Amino acid sequence: MKRMLTGIKPTGKLTLGNYIGAIKPCLDYQDDYEMFIFIANQHAITINIDPKELKQNTKDLITLYLASGLDPNKVTLFLQSDVPAHAQLGWAMTCHAYMGELNRMTQYKDKCAKGETNLTAGLFTYPALMAADILLYDADYVPVGVDQKQHVELTRTLAERFNNRYGEVFRVPDPLISKVGAKIYSLQDPTKKMSKSEDNPKGTINLLDEPSVARKKIMSAVTDSYANLVYDPEKQPGLANLMQILSVITGEAIESIADRFNGKGYGELKKEVGDAVYELLSGLQARYHEIQNSGIVEEILAQGAAKASVIADRKVAKIYRKLGFKLFK
Ligand code: TYM
Repeated sequence: MKRMLTGIKPTGKLTLGNYIGAIKPCLDYQDDYEMFIFIANQHAITINIDPKELKQNTKDLITLYLASGLDPNKVTLFLQSDVPAHAQLGWAMTCHAYMGELNRMTQYKDKCAKGETNLTAGLFTYPALMAADILLYDADYVPVGVDQKQHVELTRTLAERFNNRYGEVFRVPDPLISKVGAKIYSLQDPTKKMSKSEDNPKGTINLLDEPSVARKKIMSAVTDSYANLVYDPEKQPGLANLMQILSVITGEAIESIADRFNGKGYGELKKEVGDAVYELLSGLQARYHEIQNSGIVEEILAQGAAKASVIADRKVAKIYRKLGFKLFK
């Protein structure tokens, strides 16, 4: 069975963009791949985050993953910090990534361009840790949204660099990016990614938003004034965004949605998307509360970390031998 691995950073509240870009593909693949999913809490401290908030976000995130339908019997679910091999291999990766490569990472560049000050060294080197996250498990595929593609490409470069220098040690992974929903945009500015750190709350749907509030956000989404409903992400990005949301949630093909709404009004489409989001969140939140009260999360994470550690520790031992760290074995 081919192996898949992905992670989410527990900064801020999980959005519909995260669900569509990262969680939904995992649900679709969990039966056919050996799946590892982890909460990237070591990535979360690359920015200044309050430990209490981090704890709460992490609990919400795991609970939402389970509420979405990930089956802990099929998927290995764990916290990054529970598997020390991530930090161990992360350092080795940092020592093999060039400053120039890390400088080109757009997420870092964007933060610099915005004039943000006090950026940490961890924020700069975090793509090297992300490479370690993936390479530890010899993942074949990494399901992510478009914004993470560059990081997976750097991971490939580092894997190849290692393999050339020390002999075949890593599988070179492929990013797996859905055709529909790989980048969900802000409902208020369809040129910007829907993001956990969005300033305008009307642009982002959080998975724990009151479902009726989420529906209102869809109804007041910015579209355009062409007055014809055509699926055209270039010319009508707001509209295409809504169609993508509907397509991923309901499973209906984009072409079929575009056909059905041809000649109809924006209001009708928004109503259908609003209803789909309302239903998705209502179901998700009902299960979220059940799981929250069940006390099963701790056990699931302990089992996940134990399983992940067996694979990750073996990989680190192999790399340590290659690097000349092991003197007698
Ligand atoms: P993060 O936490 O920013 O995002 C988690 C996942 O959600 C996807 N995503 C989106 N997809 C579609 N539309 C959006 N608006 C949207 N916003 C976010 C992201 O592409 C991502 O797949 N560095 C990673 C976490 C990470 C990781 C890894 C991922 C750490 N190590 C190893 C994969 C493999 C991050 O910050 O994702």
